[in-house]
Amino acid sequence: MHPNIWYPFQNLKTSPPPLKVISASGIWLELEDGRKLMDCISSWWVNIHGHSHPKIAEAIFSQAKQLEHVIFAGFTHQPAEKLAEELVDKLPHGLSRVFFSDNGSTAVEVALKMAYQYWVNQNQQRQKFIAFEGAYHGDTFGAMSVGARSLFSQVFSNMLFEVDFLPFPETYIGDNAVDEKEEEVLCKFKEKLQQNPQQYAGIIIEPLVQGAGGIRMCRPEFLRELHQLVEKFDTLLIFDEVMTGFGRTGDWFPSIKSEVTPDITCLSKGITGGFLPLSVTVCSEKIYDTFYSDDPIKTLYHGHSYTANPLGCAAALASLELMEENQPAFSSMEGKHLQYLEVLQENPKVEKLRVTGTIAAMNIVNNQESGYLNKVGLEIRRKAVEKGLLLRPLGNVLYIMPPYCITDGELFQAYKIIDEILNEI
Ligand SMILES: Cc1ncc(COP(=O)(O)O)c(C=O)c1O
Repeated sequence: MHPNIWYPFQNLKTSPPPLKVISASGIWLELEDGRKLMDCISSWWVNIHGHSHPKIAEAIFSQAKQLEHVIFAGFTHQPAEKLAEELVDKLPHGLSRVFFSDNGSTAVEVALKMAYQYWVNQNQQRQKFIAFEGAYHGDTFGAMSVGARSLFSQVFSNMLFEVDFLPFPETYIGDNAVDEKEEEVLCKFKEKLQQNPQQYAGIIIEPLVQGAGGIRMCRPEFLRELHQLVEKFDTLLIFDEVMTGFGRTGDWFPSIKSEVTPDITCLSKGITGGFLPLSVTVCSEKIYDTFYSDDPIKTLYHGHSYTANPLGCAAALASLELMEENQPAFSSMEGKHLQYLEVLQENPKVEKLRVTGTIAAMNIVNNQESGYLNKVGLEIRRKAVEKGLLLRPLGNVLYIMPPYCITDGELFQAYKIIDEILNEI
């Protein structure tokens, strides 16, 4: 460990020392000692077009020479305006107001504040949110509060606000109980809303795929039914598309794929192709209108020093152009994953194989408790590095979420190595 750095998500005493990366290109990372690693997880799920893409690098350079940053209160600039227009154009019709911040957690904080204040601005006190078991929305306090009560937030549990949790109807290949599971969750949701409809400011969900909670997947049908109940009982639907946005689920956004327009959505991670920290919270006119007032108390008092940073916006615009070029790659990856999963399905060491778009996952079966602390994850990580792959299982959940530029040959190589690792553990 470097003597002056406190690394995130690491046990300071027991975590192995970090690997030093000196450069990266496409899906390959180059380490200081000359080894090369195939980045099968897009480095914390952000580098959707691969590393160091020259088009994004050039867009940032060119923007940096013109305007690197400016306060975004009382001032505006072309990269932010253009990006807002293009995002609105790509998102489901009805999501039209873009609020900028810096990362996934802040995008969620803003969404929660917008939803809460939406009711306050109409003289209603709605004190609670509904969220999902297994959810992960980030590490700030609001985001932790609507996340599952887990190892990550355990120490702070007394500081988190109260949230009602619903089970997440996770499904996988060959799951025969999915209809039943969805029905049960929808019934529970309906019951809560019927008991006290005025209590809930909104419900937040990671649509189609829950990320850090274990790459758990649900069906678009479920989101559609959930949305119907949200509308019927007049609360708000918040999508956290931080991980799943920008092609991850095989379409531009899960909201597009599931044909559900939430009231508010949160986007980050892939937004700049992994180059710079940036996020947006996008809401409907209905939400925006309640803040449109002469009364100062109706203002959304939220902003960050680097809000709408022009370099980030320029990177995001270049990344959107690459998204157009890469559409065939991200929309066809699901079929490729399925091909390889079919082979792995025969392996008794794995269960619950699942795929949505560019994301494939499975649970490793061993005699330890399923979850983040299952030690098999560390063993796989270590073996993967030895064999030239960057994998970072979440405990016993092994997943692959590569950049869209991965070739068929490289994907085949990744699965071949995964198969080898499975045979060794
Ligand atoms: C669904 C989801 N929401 C929010 C976040 C938080 O994003 P960030 O790490 O950029 O704060 C993450 C991060 O993994 C995520 O997967």
